[in-house]
Amino acid sequence: MEIRKIRLGNLLLPSNVLMAPLAGYTCYPFRMLAYGLGAGLCCTEMVSANALQYQDRATRRLLITTEQERIRAVQLLGGNPAVMERMAGSELLKDFDIIDINMGCPVPNVFKSGEGSALMQDQKRAAAIIRGCKRSGKVVTVKCRTGIREDDMFAAEFVRMCEDAGADMVTVHGRSRSMMYDGRPYEKEIEAAKAAVSIPVIANGGICSAEDAENMMERTGADGVMVARYGLENPFIFSELTGMPCEKTAFQVVLEQTELTARYYDETYTLGYMKKLASNMMKKRRGTKQYKERLYRSGSLEELREVLALIFDRGNERG
Ligand SMILES: Cc1cc2nc3c(=O)[nH]c(=O)nc-3n(C[C@H](O)[C@H](O)[C@H](O)COP(=O)(O)O)c2cc1C
Repeated sequence: MEIRKIRLGNLLLPSNVLMAPLAGYTCYPFRMLAYGLGAGLCCTEMVSANALQYQDRATRRLLITTEQERIRAVQLLGGNPAVMERMAGSELLKDFDIIDINMGCPVPNVFKSGEGSALMQDQKRAAAIIRGCKRSGKVVTVKCRTGIREDDMFAAEFVRMCEDAGADMVTVHGRSRSMMYDGRPYEKEIEAAKAAVSIPVIANGGICSAEDAENMMERTGADGVMVARYGLENPFIFSELTGMPCEKTAFQVVLEQTELTARYYDETYTLGYMKKLASNMMKKRRGTKQYKERLYRSGSLEELREVLALIFDRGNERG
């Protein structure tokens, strides 16, 4: 695919291959990995604006970042325009350059609270949230779906509202809320959304190879792609797509991820995150299934490193 930079206000994304926010995964170490491999933008996982008001430990942990992070984007989840505005402009988020607003989460509890994808059926409130977040002075982006139901999709109309309300970029996940995470993304909906606005539109959903990324760009005319689940299985996809040179092996990557996570998070978090990341990265590695149980049983960083060596230390394999 054609690699381009994307300008958002005073920020310049180094490429148009973005890493999606993924709850439980896109912590600071993973974002550093993806940026190092050429990703144009990475984002925290969704952070509840309501929870942020109470600043509990688990929520504060989602905001860990350093100046080393190339461009810092935080995703906010919330349905109350006043709370969203207050949190977007709060000291807690002072280190972040971009506020991404979650308008796509399909989970029943979130939807019932009028947050995430529920905002797609209340465009007035969605617009008020975008305008409120813009008053923080930061770049504001939106991540949405194609609609609520598969038989009633309206991505173009929704993206137009986002642009009118002041959004700087929109990512369209080409599935409706009812599809959750399965089924073929509707490229036509993304194409219509791209044609409807002049802000950058990013296409997301079902990208599992460089060829998929290419096809997505061609069929939708989008300004860039956002890789999600596949980025966990094969983080090297960013290097493949962007041409960013990478000499690292998968083993080096998991070891570096372990060290970086342990530096900024406690041992429990580090073990939990590394077990999930490693089990994604080993999906297509033959002969490694036998170590999965041991991976999940490891109770210390020492044990973790040992089992990571068994799984990943095989010459300079990447896959
Ligand atoms: C485990 C998991 C966690 C996710 N967390 C978030 C999130 O925090 N914020 C968000 O906007 N989307 C989230 N998503 C949706 C992804 O960003 C993406 O839109 C979706 O997985 C479709 O892309 P894919 O088919 O390439 O995986 C999550 C998806 C999964 C599977």
